[in-house]
Parts: sequence; structure tokens; C-alpha cells
Amino acid sequence: MAILLDDTKRIFTLQTDHSMYQMKADRYGVLLHTWFGNNGTSFDYSYLITYEDRGFSGNPYETENERTYSLDALPQEYPVYGSGDYRSTALKVRYPDGSNACELRYYSYQILNGKYSLPGLPAIYATEDTKADTLIITLEDTRHCFYVHIYYGVLENLDIITRAVCIENHCSDDLYFENIQSTCVDYLHGNFNFHTFYGRHVKERTHQKSPLQHGIQSIGSTRGTSSHQYNPFFILSEQDTTEDTGNCYGFSLLYSGDFSGLAEYDQYDQTRILLGIHPDNFYYCIKPGEKFYAPETAMAFSDCGLGNLSHIYHKAYRNNLCRGKYKTARRPILLNSWEGVYFDFDGDKLVQMAKDASELGVELFVMDDGWFGKRDLDVSGLGDWLVNEEKLGCTLGELSERIHKLGLQFGIWFEPECVNEDSNLYRAHPDWALQVPGKAPCRSRYQLVLDFSREDVRDYIFTHICQVLDSAKIEYLKWDFNRSISDIYSAKLPAKRQGEVAHRYILGLYDMLEKLIQRYPDILIEGCSGGGGRFDAGMLYYTPQIWCSDDTDAIERLSIQYGTSFGYPVSTMGSHVSKCPNEQTGRMTPLNTRATVAMSGTFGYELDVNQMSDEEKALVKAQIKEFKSYDSLIQNGNYYRLTDPSEAQSYHSWEFVAEDKSEALLCIVSLQIHPNGPGNYIKLKGLDPHSAYLIDGKKYPGDVLMNGGLLLPFAKAEYESFRIHITRC
Ligand code: GLA
Repeated sequence: MAILLDDTKRIFTLQTDHSMYQMKADRYGVLLHTWFGNNGTSFDYSYLITYEDRGFSGNPYETENERTYSLDALPQEYPVYGSGDYRSTALKVRYPDGSNACELRYYSYQILNGKYSLPGLPAIYATEDTKADTLIITLEDTRHCFYVHIYYGVLENLDIITRAVCIENHCSDDLYFENIQSTCVDYLHGNFNFHTFYGRHVKERTHQKSPLQHGIQSIGSTRGTSSHQYNPFFILSEQDTTEDTGNCYGFSLLYSGDFSGLAEYDQYDQTRILLGIHPDNFYYCIKPGEKFYAPETAMAFSDCGLGNLSHIYHKAYRNNLCRGKYKTARRPILLNSWEGVYFDFDGDKLVQMAKDASELGVELFVMDDGWFGKRDLDVSGLGDWLVNEEKLGCTLGELSERIHKLGLQFGIWFEPECVNEDSNLYRAHPDWALQVPGKAPCRSRYQLVLDFSREDVRDYIFTHICQVLDSAKIEYLKWDFNRSISDIYSAKLPAKRQGEVAHRYILGLYDMLEKLIQRYPDILIEGCSGGGGRFDAGMLYYTPQIWCSDDTDAIERLSIQYGTSFGYPVSTMGSHVSKCPNEQTGRMTPLNTRATVAMSGTFGYELDVNQMSDEEKALVKAQIKEFKSYDSLIQNGNYYRLTDPSEAQSYHSWEFVAEDKSEALLCIVSLQIHPNGPGNYIKLKGLDPHSAYLIDGKKYPGDVLMNGGLLLPFAKAEYESFRIHITRC
């Protein structure tokens, strides 16, 4: 059992193979956080807490002036607003009398076999070979109005501890919540680096590391999506932590909407982290007897650096978060029509593209935006999910059949959540779009957002999507979302409940995705939001891959995919070879390098094969053949970051190593050429030190490759790349 209990001292210790987490309900019933870090003896770690008489840090009434006891200084599991703790808190309630001072005290606990799930929300699940248990600790507010049930999932052999929160109203009045965070962890010390993944459209998830300063450092989104700007994942690391050494802690939110993540370095040099739904735009009414669930966070600890922390997330998300057939099946190598032809196509042109692609070994043809309604530009048609047979020159069924006859699977693009004003749907139902009465809405890409918090709106869209999917043989669906949400107001909810819309929207999105995957279990769904605007662990529960970025430039992608790899496996990163000069940057890169980068993701092409020379076509054919020989190594192997592209001068490199260490793939992209420059060596990782490995017919001991490194081939041109396959002898 991964949950150890000391009933008399009310100590709860959660143990995974390599980490431990502990809390204790103290003599006043306050649930203290006492440990998160290395696994070891399940000792009472509260001995580490300092009790001092602290000025201006008050004492709860029941302590009877015990001036050394203050919630302002103590490490807690679920600190609340108005309790005398003046740091950032996890919960803020508005009681029926208008007050908001709140205190929580320990009430009970429950232990369940297996991993809990959450109604309507994504959650990590246990498989047959996962050892998992659940602890639920219940706290009650001292005014006896509501319970806070804190859920802990202990996934022993995954080294993951999850947390989620359920609020239950058990009084006879409505309660309004202004903030319900999913996770709080209090450290007794500071001196951490805060790693975040910031960006913008076409430049997502750039890794940034900064030391914590006194005060609050925060990331978040109020865009209605997890966003391009900040990812709902961050890491705290101790100062000397590297890829291979040192302590670090990961916090990943399984949620696709507004979120807030913060680290507060306080007056006593302690650190508090909070992660959950962003409190702006959040004002939630919980009615008597009702429960509200806040999304799950997945926490991990590594005492051997950031590389290992990433491996923990990669394995858990690949095997215990992604679902369906494509969790394990090899994803088909696709050709997407977007950057090849944009809106400018008809059925014959698409079939020609597919034919050219099939001759090179492509397995799936994806028809992107432009096949429905009046949609020859992005100004109109969204919402009208009716096949434009006039444009295609045939029905969708016929088009799909022609593509299948070429030996290819067929996929299609949707953007279900949005609507153009110039559409039949909007003309018939303007109130279905999120907009505030009396105020003109904010447009983005000429589109508005449908109110997915409404079941009737979702049902309508779902029915129309199903009609399209049922009319043809379709094996892949790209679910796109091309703007940030604004004008959050639902015509269906009363004034006092408008603060629920943003969260209800995400619940609606999840509800529809769930229905879709239940009805079409064999369709591969790729998530997308203008590239990686909704690249989060919540979406991965429904879509096992997500288009990583609208930036397809191979050199830009190095840092995007590098940043993404801290919290997400390579198998989830949509990545394509596109044409040159690149559409986003105008940069020229060798076709071989574009393939090296795209292979370190789901691998596909996004160009018009017809425009390629015979020599290029031959290269593509060879690339596809080569990728097929690596597919399992790339999809399921351990991924090692060998360099940081923001620091790398001459080259950037990374490596895949099979779980059984029998083979590896080393990828190198040269960044700058210095004539007559020094030799470059790269130290490999993850090999078996006691085995010999073969590289280009030459034998090397594993320990030598890891300690001495490999002398890299001399790049003759900027952006040249190398893929070096390494096999155990
Ligand atoms: C978004 C996606 C692109 C493409 C276009 C179509 O920008 O990220 O890949 O599908 O929409 O409009």
C-alpha cells in the first residue's frame, strides 16, 4: 500500500517508488503539509517546522493566544482566504451573509483502492500494471457550511502523485466561490528556480528559468484556453539542479482553460506554490447538496535532475493519460493540405496531392480548412458544417473513396467551437455566440466563439459533425480552435452565475470530445489551437497528439519542441516537414533537417509534393522508410535533451533510447558554422555502460560513449543535420 497512516498522530504519508509526500492534521485540526521529496522513512516530518512568536502574524482563536502558532507562517495543504494566512491562498468563499473569512479543519479521511476519476474532467488513470491508491481527506469549514474533499492519487510505479479538490455544500444556502485552486504545496525553504514555458502564437513553450525573488511570480491564462502565452506546467528546481543531477518538482494541470500558477517566496523565506483555475472570470455558485470538482494536477519529484522529471511525465502521459487505439498504435505518416494549398483546392487537386504523396509512402491524407460552407478565405463559413460539394466536385464519400483507392487513409479538419458572422449558423442563432448584450464583441480572425457551456449549442454542432463523419470513411480529425475567448457571457445563465461560464465552457468542450471518442473510437483526433494554443495535459486525455505550433520552420521548432519536451512526450507533438523558404520565417533549411525535426514528433508533411523535384521526392521516400524503422524507438523510447538550443552555439542535439537500451537515435542540427572551428563532442545518455554499441560499423563501449562522448561529423553548412542510429552489439 502506497498510503501509510498513523491514525493516532493523524499523519498521512504517500509513497511512490522514488518520492514521498506527507501531511498531518495537527492538534487544532489544521492540515499541515510536512514533506514532498525523496522517499525514505515515513517519519513525522513536522519536526522541521519552526514555531516562533511572529509579529503581525496572528493566532487562531482556539490556540488561546499561543503566539508561536500562526497560519501566516505554517506550511499547509489547503490554505484559505481570511484565515490569518496573508499569503496567496487556495480558496475564497463568499458566505450568504456576504463575509469571506474562512477556516478549514480536519474532518475525516478515506482510502480507496485504485485511482479516482473525476466527473466530466480529465484524470490520469491506472492500467493493469500501475499500482495506484486514492486518499481522500475531508476538511470542513468551521461555520459548517461546506466540506473540502482533497483527492490524492498515488501512482506508485509511475512516481506521480495527483491532486484534485471537490467542494461540497452541505448547508441550506447557495455558496459562491471566488477561487478554488487544485493544488497548494508549501516548502519550508526557498532558493528555487522557477521554470516556466512562455510564448506566443508561432513561438510556444519557450523554456525560461528564473530564481525566485521575494514576492509572487506567476503565470496564467484568462484567454479561455490554456494558451500559447504560458503553459499550465511549471517546475521548481534547487539552484544546482541540472538535466542529470539535483532536486526538482513538476506541477502539471490537466485543464485546457483559464489557469493560474504561482510561486510565492514569503517573508520567512518559505515558498508556496499554487496551481488551478484562474480566479479572474471565476465566480461559482454551489447549491445546497451540490459538489464542484476542480481539475487535477499531476505532481512529480526527481532527485536526479530535469531529464528524469521529464521521463516521469512522458511515461505517465503516454500510458496513463492518452487513451484509445492510438495510445500504442503507430500514428500514420500524414500529408496535410494546409501549407501546400491553403483554401485553394478542389477535389481533383486534393486527389493529385494524395496520389503524389502515396507514391512516396505517406499513409494518411488530411484535408485541412476550406471544404465546408462558404469557405474560400477565413472570413466566412465557420459553423456551417456542410460539405461544399460544388468546390470539391463530388461528395465527401466519393472524395474519401478516391483517396482510399490510392492506399491512403483520409482525415478532415474541423473548428467546432467557432462561428463566422457570415455563416448560416450565425444568421439563424446569433445568441449562440458568446457576446455581452449591448456591447459589440471582440472579433478575432473574423470569428466569434460559440457558447459551449450550452448543451443545445453543443448538440447542434455534434449532430452536424457526426453527419459529416458518417457520410464518408474518415480515419483522422483535426480539432482546431483559432482565437482567444472574450465576451464571456451566456444567454442561458442568470446574472449572478455568469462567473461560471468560462469553466462550464471547458466542461462542455470535454463533454463533446468524450462523446466523439466514444462514438468514433478508431478515429485519430489531433488537437490544435492555432498550433499549440491548447497544448495541455487536459486535451491529451481526449486527443493523443496536438499540433505543436503553426511555426513549421525547423530551426524555430528546435526550441518549441525542446520546451514542450519538459512536460510532454514526443509522441504527442504534431510535427511536419514543410516547404522552403519557410512560410513563417522565410528561412531555407535542408529537407533532411526538416525531417530530423519532424521525426522528433508525430512526423508528417505539409506541402505540395507536386512542387518538389525528383531528387527531393526521392529524399522524402527515403525519410519515410527510415522513420518507419525508428517509429517505436521515437514514440516509446526515453527522450534525452543533450543541449539547450538557447545556449547552443554550434549545434543542438537530442537522443532517443529504447527502454531496454538496445538501440538509440542521436539527432544533431548544426546551428552555426565556424570555419576551421574546434571539434565537437557529444556525450550520450541512457545507454547501458556495460554493453558495446555499434555506430557506422565501429564498436564503442556504452560507458565510453557516455563519458568521453562521440566526435561529431563536421557540418559543412549551417542547419545541416545528422541522425545517427546506435545499436547494441
Ligand atoms: C490554424 C491551424 C493550422 C490550419 C489553419 C486553418 O491556424 O493551426 O494548422 O489548420 O488553422 O485555418
